Amino acid sequence: MEVRVGTVDEVRRDGCRVVEIDGRSVGIISVGEEFYAINDRCPHMGASMCTGSLSGTMVASDPHEYVYGMDERVIRCPWHGWEFDLVTGRSLLEPKRSGLRTYRVTTDDGHVVVHA
Ligand code: FES
Repeated sequence: MEVRVGTVDEVRRDGCRVVEIDGRSVGIISVGEEFYAINDRCPHMGASMCTGSLSGTMVASDPHEYVYGMDERVIRCPWHGWEFDLVTGRSLLEPKRSGLRTYRVTTDDGHVVVHA
């Protein structure tokens, strides 16, 4: 199923737009030139992920080195801070146990299209 969720300009302006697709709340997130789509409900207790924040995180590095990475690729739940990789949907803390469903996003004739 392909769903047009708004124009590129509209979704960029919103930053994160929540739409209902097939009974699910899906958040479409604009980051730079890219769009990502995730299940908007946090798997912990159901907060809207779109009301959370985008950032990066400290990434694996050598001892005594602190390296910041994944900038604007980590979405943090507003309620208790669970963090997920925006690209894969996987939890940063427990990637094998928890995650958000992701959806492929394309653009067509100036519109953002979610493939559900
Ligand atoms: S509801 Fe998202 S971390 Fe608790």
